[in-house]
Amino acid sequence: MAKALNIIRDEHRSIAAILHGMEYLVERIRTRNAKVNPRVFSAMIYYLDTFSERMHHPKEDRFLFQALRSRGGEAATVVADLETEHAAGGDALRRLEQCLMRYEEGGDKEFPAFAAAVEKFVREYRDHMHKEESIVFPLAQRLLSAADWQAIDRAFEENRDPLAADRDTRDFKKLFDRIVNLAPPPIGVGPDA
Ligand SMILES: [Fe+2]
Repeated sequence: MAKALNIIRDEHRSIAAILHGMEYLVERIRTRNAKVNPRVFSAMIYYLDTFSERMHHPKEDRFLFQALRSRGGEAATVVADLETEHAAGGDALRRLEQCLMRYEEGGDKEFPAFAAAVEKFVREYRDHMHKEESIVFPLAQRLLSAADWQAIDRAFEENRDPLAADRDTRDFKKLFDRIVNLAPPPIGVGPDA
């Protein structure tokens, strides 16, 4: 598989881990009345905003989707659909953030709306990543030439983050680790002592 597709798949795994964590924590609050530090959710939303919205999606748009769009036909239609989803991603995240704020400030009575927002967000995000891997990957492998892949792989490798310097990749790792430290087991290791 092309390097660029492997990078996308790896990044999807990190995002999927965050989504699973969110869903799991909401379920624990709902079924066991677990006390979860809201900072965990804030850190998760921040991660999705900085990593996914500002780095992962722009990279897909700029390098992979652009090459596919130039093939026209089915590829252009699929790409247009996914680009629309990318464009809506920021708003979806803002809505989730607003529900979290209401829950933090309003307490238990705001939990059902927050839980429903998390479930919707997670479902839509998973669908989006599944579409990329199950539809775009095979389409790209079928339609793009060796020269296309060379250029795309180089762009992904040279510029893993189109908006920031390499060091930010390490910052995302740090942020991910911080979330893992904040989250209670078995998602994370629990708050620092
Ligand atoms: Fe993606």
